[in-house]
Amino acid sequence: MPRVLVVDDHAENLYVLHALLTGHGWDVDEAQNGADALAKAQQFPPQLVISDLLMPVMDGYSLIRKWKADDRLKHIPFVVYTATYTDPQDEKLAMDMGADAFIVKPAEPEAFMHRINEVIHSDGTMLHAAVRQPVSDEKVQFKQYNEALVRKLEQKSVQLEQANIALARDIEQRKILEAEREKLRAQLSQAQKMESIGRLAGSIAHDFNNLISVILGYADAALTAVQETDPVHADLVEIRKAAQRSSAITHQLLMFARMRPGARQPINLNDVIDDMTAMLRQLIGRNIELAWSPGRDIGAVLMDPAHVTQILTNLCTNGRDAIMRDAAHATGKITIATNKMETVDVLRTWYGDMTPGKYICLSVSDTGCGMNQDTLSHLFEPFFTTKSIGKGTGLGLATIYGIIRQNSGFVNVSSEPGKGTKFELYFPLHENNRQ
Ligand SMILES: Nc1ncnc2c1ncn2[C@@H]1O[C@H](COP(=O)(O)OP(=O)(O)OP(=O)(O)O)[C@@H](O)[C@H]1O
Ligand SMILES: [Mg+2]
Repeated sequence: MPRVLVVDDHAENLYVLHALLTGHGWDVDEAQNGADALAKAQQFPPQLVISDLLMPVMDGYSLIRKWKADDRLKHIPFVVYTATYTDPQDEKLAMDMGADAFIVKPAEPEAFMHRINEVIHSDGTMLHAAVRQPVSDEKVQFKQYNEALVRKLEQKSVQLEQANIALARDIEQRKILEAEREKLRAQLSQAQKMESIGRLAGSIAHDFNNLISVILGYADAALTAVQETDPVHADLVEIRKAAQRSSAITHQLLMFARMRPGARQPINLNDVIDDMTAMLRQLIGRNIELAWSPGRDIGAVLMDPAHVTQILTNLCTNGRDAIMRDAAHATGKITIATNKMETVDVLRTWYGDMTPGKYICLSVSDTGCGMNQDTLSHLFEPFFTTKSIGKGTGLGLATIYGIIRQNSGFVNVSSEPGKGTKFELYFPLHENNRQ
């Protein structure tokens, strides 16, 4: 049986060739690289060698060169079977060095055997009179070989660069997704926190409200029982005042907890705000300019007008406080604007994602001190305040928040320390009552 030496550094390639060639009547010998093949062939020359090109220790090109320089081996046909070196120049170099055939991996078994049979029959008889020999001198071969290696190296570095770019893109993409997920997680936990604070505040406020009614009832009854000249009378008046203040606070808390729905009706925000500007100017004082920019044809929203008053009073008070935080005579500007948003796709707001639809945006911005991240993250919580004791209750924004949610609205806040603040409140357009 004729013997073939198969040279490849990949075990699976050796396995496939072994099975194929054995099936076609060849006795198969194997080698893992050029050096291994040369040693085996010199000891026990085969009738045919089939070799890979890219291999460790000694590659296929070096093996052809040494093969063709060896008097005992140079008449044995040399077939190149390669997956890496596949350019026409690679083939030319192999053929110039004396290879008898150049086959690109992977070849169909039938086509592969056909090419082998063009070189040598499986009974060992040669097809051609003589085996091919090197056509150029060693110096030229070395130069070409060197060029082939450089080419391969360049291709590899281009591939590596592309892989790197793809990898960088992947990493970037993953970072964006992670940030997005982190944001959604924060929004969800914020929403859950607000819901549970709301429930708690609601139940506490409810109980307090009942108790305060009792205190007020007794205070009123006691007041009718004592003379105004009685020193107890003044104390009772103070008790009643404190109870009334407490009652106001619990009403705000109930509002936050959405337990006191307002009287909703279709209203045009521009009309309501028009009526309020004089009062708001009074509220913020002469040093602060109030700009009012009503949007055109904004349509109607379904709201209690008293809620609009409450929202604007609270936001303008906050804006005024922010402008005057560091100096009592500081000047600045508060801008109120309305805007109809024909289509809002999905808008990421401070509180969850806004559902698509038509909205009216009411915005209030100020040129005040702005807020840091920490303040922003607690902004709407009841009793959260950065103002000194007696100056703020921390219920202003909690109340606004309750109103917004009660009216199926959303709120977005943008603020940076030293760069002012902008509140954007979105309320769904009341489609049936365009005005
Ligand atoms: N426009 C703004 N600029 C800067 N900080 C603001 C602004 N609005 C609110 N804040 C911050 O948010 C906190 C909470 O505001 P919120 O209106 O709920 O309570 P408050 O104003 O402190 O008290 P009050 O119950 O009297 O309104 C404020 O103490 C302040 O730190
Ligand atoms: Mg406030």
